[in-house]
Amino acid sequence: MNEKIIEFLKKKEGYVSGDQIAHRLGISRQALWKHIQELKDLGYDIVAVPHLGYRLDAAPDRLFDFEIKSALNTRFVGRQIHYFENAASTMEIATRLALGGCPEGTLVIAESQTRGKGRMGRSWFSPRHKGIYASLILRPNTLPSQVSVLTLLAAVSIVEALNEFCGVPSKIKWPNDVVLEGRKLAGILTELNAEMDRVNFVVLGIGINVNNDKKSLISGAASLKSFLGHSLNLNRVGLLQAILRRIEDNYSSFQKGHLQGILEKWKQMSVTLGTRVKVYCQNEQVEGEAVDIDSDGGLLVRRDSGITEKITAGDVVACR
Ligand code: BTN
Repeated sequence: MNEKIIEFLKKKEGYVSGDQIAHRLGISRQALWKHIQELKDLGYDIVAVPHLGYRLDAAPDRLFDFEIKSALNTRFVGRQIHYFENAASTMEIATRLALGGCPEGTLVIAESQTRGKGRMGRSWFSPRHKGIYASLILRPNTLPSQVSVLTLLAAVSIVEALNEFCGVPSKIKWPNDVVLEGRKLAGILTELNAEMDRVNFVVLGIGINVNNDKKSLISGAASLKSFLGHSLNLNRVGLLQAILRRIEDNYSSFQKGHLQGILEKWKQMSVTLGTRVKVYCQNEQVEGEAVDIDSDGGLLVRRDSGITEKITAGDVVACR
């Protein structure tokens, strides 16, 4: 009901009478008053004036499930949202939900994380209300070996959404770092639950530095707000909605087997291909030119000896 009240108030410019809202939403004036108190407690600035009614002056900077869902217009991505003010890691919650059989597209969002997880056992700094920390559950109809393409797909979707939402020209560093002027803006962590020849589910974890200022940013990282030089916070709801729409579009192509289009987009957005790199893999370092990615997202590096190696996981450092 809170969602409907907010939607109603957002559509109206001035005051709306309590009678009108209650009538339209089919609730009593008393029930409406209770909901308005709840919304005020959540941080909505709602002015109530006798004989005039209610007016929404400002919404809080929060990723509430009903804010995200409103005007999202996706078929399944983000239709079910679990919102937390704080979580250890959204990955753990999403995995539990997926094991419990939640529908594909279920999203877990936290305003802060105490044990945010990054790739290769690293942590992800997740200060409160600054970034987007979300995990999306997918149930792709594909082989486990193809799942790394989903990581590329998520990175492509974020770059597209950043471009559309705020005109920011981000790029991708293999495999899945979204970077701005060489600094990391967003990261993706993909966790897989599978059998030998069947994927049960995938959790795509997305972390983006949005409204971080210097104090709430680790060194070498970028945030959207500092890149754009804005004094006001960016609208995290709008950005997350744009990302979810892009993921749904790209994922629908993936499910139809159109991997090539996603790989092509990734190549266009890459800062890695065509450069000399050193890749730190589990037990070795591979140095050479990053020449291509293959159909499962592996990086092809041509060593000086002329031999090309495929790398499936690792950290890339650019060589100058
Ligand atoms: C990386 O190392 O680049 C991946 C970072 C992924 C961070 C996100 S934040 C939301 C989700 N929950 C986590 O604990 N990690 C991912």
